[in-house]
Amino acid sequence: MWIFERKGSSGFSASTTAEEVTQGIDGTGLTAIVTGASSGIGKETTRVLALRGVHVIMAVRNTIIGKTVKDEIVKEISVAKIEVMELDLSSMASVRKFAAEFEATGHFLLTNLLLDTMKRTAAKSHLEGRIVNVSSVAHKMAYHEGIQFNKINEDARYWVRTAAKKYGQSKLANVLHAGELSRRLKEEGVPITANSLHPGIVVTDLLRHRSFFAGIIFGIGKYFCKNVHQGAATTCYLALHPQVKGVSGEYFSDCNLSQSSSPAKDSELAKKLWDFSLNLAIPK
Ligand SMILES: NC(=O)c1ccc[n+]([C@@H]2O[C@H](COP(=O)([O-])OP(=O)(O)OC[C@H]3O[C@@H](n4cnc5c(N)ncnc54)[C@H](OP(=O)(O)O)[C@@H]3O)[C@@H](O)[C@H]2O)c1
Repeated sequence: MWIFERKGSSGFSASTTAEEVTQGIDGTGLTAIVTGASSGIGKETTRVLALRGVHVIMAVRNTIIGKTVKDEIVKEISVAKIEVMELDLSSMASVRKFAAEFEATGHFLLTNLLLDTMKRTAAKSHLEGRIVNVSSVAHKMAYHEGIQFNKINEDARYWVRTAAKKYGQSKLANVLHAGELSRRLKEEGVPITANSLHPGIVVTDLLRHRSFFAGIIFGIGKYFCKNVHQGAATTCYLALHPQVKGVSGEYFSDCNLSQSSSPAKDSELAKKLWDFSLNLAIPK
């Protein structure tokens, strides 16, 4: 579609693919942990980072599927350096086990546990560390107050409107987390960046699993949504591109800087969420 072709100031557009955005970039010597690597955007991100020479750790909850995906990629890219490790982000025990194995609450706990290793690696290698949170434009559909801290674990499956707000809240948390993390890293003077992004509306299994209506969107979506090669472009851009060296605490879409919602820019809310998550993940 023509609207997909409009380029932003980075020189890339919604139709740019992950391969195009990383063209000519040598990722040899870098290591990336990709969560959700067994399917959709995570799988394509793994493939393209591996194509550029990055050593990729696929963090997956089902290692049998993970190994099948790895074999598929290695068949295409024989030199790909990929490892599969088990990680269920809904289990604190699994996150701790993963982080311990890697020597190194949900995404929050994982990042916290890996941060010291990242800091040491960045200091030793003189290479910038990059943390990329996959959020969504849906963060703009979160509750009016942003995060409902008192109802964080409420089951919202049966109410379409509430489910959308709940999903929006989780995606808002991704933006706020990257923002607060970035602020802390800047304060410490550590060469690690943290950004968040909207990948676009991408035809993946995510929509198919959600609901009957989402299934219909999935069916017709093939004709007006991004394909997975385009959907992984912004993650790969933020992970590898020299244009974003030193850029931190920002929100991106279509490989360009984008506007997040007002709650997403609320530094007090970000701090409150940080303290809340810390207390949940590492209770005193
Ligand atoms: N597709 C879109 O249009 C769209 C738009 C905006 C934002 N996003 C965001 O993009 C990200 C990736 O979505 P996608 O479209 O690529 O979806 P997907 O194809 O369904 O992939 C989701 C991945 O996450 C993994 N996963 C789910 N729960 C997990 C858990 N508890 N622990 C570890 N891994 C878990 C899944 O593993 P299994 O294979 O084990 O299920 C799968 O590999 C999501 O954060 C989503 O919110 C997507």
